[in-house]
Amino acid sequence: MALYSDKVMDHFRNPRNVGVLEDANGIGEVGNPVCGDIMKMYLKINDDEIIEDVKFETFGCGSAIASSSMATELIKGKSVEEALSLTNKAVAEALDGLPAHKMHCSVLAEEAIKSAIDDYNKRKNGEK
Ligand code: FES
Repeated sequence: MALYSDKVMDHFRNPRNVGVLEDANGIGEVGNPVCGDIMKMYLKINDDEIIEDVKFETFGCGSAIASSSMATELIKGKSVEEALSLTNKAVAEALDGLPAHKMHCSVLAEEAIKSAIDDYNKRKNGEK
């Protein structure tokens, strides 16, 4: 069996939602100190707490790029609450699996979304 699924390869070669969202109201950045990879997530959340748009920038390995791409697809159009419940396992499953030693790459995607929502909540509560 190939190490990486077709879906991983597809999202790595043609990542969805790459870039910067100028009017984002929730931005999160996380990194993995071991491998040094960095992921930045931009969310545009409307008054009904629906994620209208999402973009990401990932400086990292192929699995991290595929995971961020898939994660953005999974949360686009969803509520903040639904996005918060997205686990790295669900991201990996949606990619038809990741090799065991690459599971930590999908953790970055989960953490980046949580960090961006945290930023959104802080702005909303006037803490920023
Ligand atoms: Fe660091 Fe994949 S090796 S995120």
